[in-house]
Amino acid sequence: MLNVADAGAIKEITSARSKWPKPVEQYTLVLQFGRNIVATEGDEWKKHRKLANPAFSEPNNKLVWDEAVRITTDMIDNVWENREVVEVDHAVDITLQIALLIIGSAGFGRKISFAEDLKIPPGHNMSFKDALHIVSTDMILPTVLPAWSLNLTQRLRNVRTAMADLSKYMQEMIDERRNAEKKPERHDLFSSLLDANMAEAEGNESRLEDSELIGNIFIFLLAGHETTAHTLCFTLGLLALYQDQQEILYQHIVSILPDKRLPTYEDMSSLSYVLAVFYETLRLFPPVATIPKKSAEDTTLVTTNNAGEKIIVPVPKGASVTLHTPGLHYNPRYWKDPYEFRPQRFMEDWPRDAFLPFSGGARSCIGRRFSETESLAILAVLMARYRVETKEEPQFAGETFDQRRERLLKVKAGITSTSVVARNSSAELSVGSLLFGTFMKRPLEFRWIFRHLD
Ligand code: HEM
Repeated sequence: MLNVADAGAIKEITSARSKWPKPVEQYTLVLQFGRNIVATEGDEWKKHRKLANPAFSEPNNKLVWDEAVRITTDMIDNVWENREVVEVDHAVDITLQIALLIIGSAGFGRKISFAEDLKIPPGHNMSFKDALHIVSTDMILPTVLPAWSLNLTQRLRNVRTAMADLSKYMQEMIDERRNAEKKPERHDLFSSLLDANMAEAEGNESRLEDSELIGNIFIFLLAGHETTAHTLCFTLGLLALYQDQQEILYQHIVSILPDKRLPTYEDMSSLSYVLAVFYETLRLFPPVATIPKKSAEDTTLVTTNNAGEKIIVPVPKGASVTLHTPGLHYNPRYWKDPYEFRPQRFMEDWPRDAFLPFSGGARSCIGRRFSETESLAILAVLMARYRVETKEEPQFAGETFDQRRERLLKVKAGITSTSVVARNSSAELSVGSLLFGTFMKRPLEFRWIFRHLD
């Protein structure tokens, strides 16, 4: 088994897909949602990717942006009610909710907001929003637990019901779109996937079965929801710790939006420092820490040793090869002061091959632009209006900056890396893993802009 943290060797692997395929046998658990883009290889994977590609389009990105702005503003206006100070136990509570509403809307085509959409239509056991929420939180449980155990607790029964309900909602959406005489123009991932599939001739091998369509959309939810939400949570944690960086970010945002209007999709390319902050978070906390590949033939990889000498590593056929994202991202050969939080490095000439949060080559993340778009929109809206700080708690009064950083940014490896969720400080103290945040309102003038826009 090889762990690879050499940018050149990684590039060689990601750019020769058939020589370094994905070990799909490690992904059989996610096949239970239906055959899908993540868990397949070869021609079958190509079929999924070809149909999924057009869904991640420019109109979809614009939809993602608009929805992210709408949902974040909805939260500030209607959940936080523009309060001066908002205290939250864990920043992930915010980021998971926002990301869920965005994927509900720009992914599944169901416009939902914080307060609405709790109706349970006939034939269903829960609302679309609840089904989506439960599935996104717990969908992994039925994949790792034996079938006989899925009736044992209320939580497991709920996730089973939610998955069945969400599949039913999706089947209804498929039937509705298939049978509609006039299809409204829609750019959510699901509608576009359906349209691309319907454009393939009936009986054609490249057409996906309904179960595969549903499998893929479940996978978009699994692959895209927590990764983005937890990265944003780490971003907020870092900004809370590094107030000077937060101030630079704030000044950047208001320099792009001096009139304090809400950002539009066209502003995205100008919000370069926001992207730099997001990238620096992904460099420090890549949600996908290991990317598995295997060697399809006897071959070699070239790397350099600590003395800078070239060395050739033999790789036998069938060897397990892991692209080690943190190893690459913290490699001082590519990154100066790799442990420092310094978004500015992404404003300069940076080593693109040494940045792999979304993997690389043909099998790189199809949702990269989706994730970047939603993250930039959320941060641009939120950080223009609120300052995030860590809550001062007496029990942590004596800690140093490094101790605080370690406590707040503790990582737990799950399916993807997550920031540790802890709600109650005293109960969880021994874990030392709290990410408490206090959102301080930006000066009154920013609240005024909200009123004005309303
Ligand atoms: C910060 C956010 C994200 C990160 C760090 C991330 C990372 C990754 C990585 C490392 C891979 C390659 C995995 C492998 O080879 O096993 C991947 C693949 C994938 N991602 Fe993402 N992702 C993110 C967001 C999203 C979003 C928002 C979506 C969808 C809405 C998405 C959908 C997918 C899909 C479908 C694949 C499989 C692509 C294929 O095999 O052709 N991801 N992602």
